[in-house]
Amino acid sequence: MSGTLQLPAPTWFIGCGNLGGAIVDGWRAGGMDLGPVTVIRPSGKQVEGTRTVTRLADAGPPPKLAVLGFKPQKLDEVAPGLRQHLSAKTVVVSLLVGVEAASIRQRFPGVQAIVRALPNIPVAVRRGVTGLYSVDADQGVRQLVNDLFSALGFTMWMTDEVKLAAVGSVAGAGTAYVARFIDALSKAAVQRGLSPEIAAIIARETVLGTGWMAAGTGETMDSIIRRVASPKGTTEAGLSVLDGEGALDDLIAATINAAALRGAELAREAKAASLAEETRTA
Ligand SMILES: NC(=O)c1ccc[n+]([C@@H]2O[C@H](COP(=O)([O-])OP(=O)(O)OC[C@H]3O[C@@H](n4cnc5c(N)ncnc54)[C@H](OP(=O)(O)O)[C@@H]3O)[C@@H](O)[C@H]2O)c1
Repeated sequence: MSGTLQLPAPTWFIGCGNLGGAIVDGWRAGGMDLGPVTVIRPSGKQVEGTRTVTRLADAGPPPKLAVLGFKPQKLDEVAPGLRQHLSAKTVVVSLLVGVEAASIRQRFPGVQAIVRALPNIPVAVRRGVTGLYSVDADQGVRQLVNDLFSALGFTMWMTDEVKLAAVGSVAGAGTAYVARFIDALSKAAVQRGLSPEIAAIIARETVLGTGWMAAGTGETMDSIIRRVASPKGTTEAGLSVLDGEGALDDLIAATINAAALRGAELAREAKAASLAEETRTA
């Protein structure tokens, strides 16, 4: 990580569970100074290297960077209290899956910029994938947010929120799907007589090694498959099951689709709630 990369002071995490914690872990692993970070979470569970408080009232002066790290369903519980602590110099980075930038802007009308970030959990080991999106961030803000997430792995700016949602469905949720696949591979190894411990290591390292090789060489998946599966061989017999009538492709497409539908549902709920608020305050 660049020695000059610094978090704005103060930086707040409002909610810091699985994903917020993974981001902080990645920054810490990269040697980032976490001194500017205040975490606000109801449990008060300490996040190493940060100042952790339970109430916004104890968080201190308005943050330059405010990361929303709570569940989308909590937005309307948190927003009214948080709004008064943010200033025209605050950049809000929302991690909330499915909640559009306009819905966040609706809750925090006076802040400098809203950036949506959809990282996946491997940011904890600085091998994450993060999709970014903003309509109102200037070049300086985009550079800052880009640098902060690039320190945690691969980062890309999306041109619209449909594409951002696609990153969330594939890379964000994808970590869970890949974990399921590794588990399934491991279970199959146990059925073939290996101990659960050895099976788990072999399955995990096979997936890691395949991805690592492809990332290192740029080789396509088709090319890797051709190098492993000789005609009429054992791997080809296995592939005929995975490929049979699009079995794996259809299963993955249906899986991603289910996540995308839920994302659209969350976006509709957040939009309906912000419209209701607009009507109340009009
Ligand atoms: N997990 C992923 O892979 C992933 C990927 C992309 C995006 N996201 C998004 O990231 C966000 C967080 O997800 P997560 O998996 O990290 O959830 P999580 O582990 O349940 O963490 C939620 C955090 O919110 C805090 N919280 C709850 N009520 C709060 C309140 N009233 N005020 C302030 N903080 C409050 C919790 O505090 P305590 O710890 O004190 O209970 C906790 O730290 C979600 O919006 C999700 O859509 C997650």
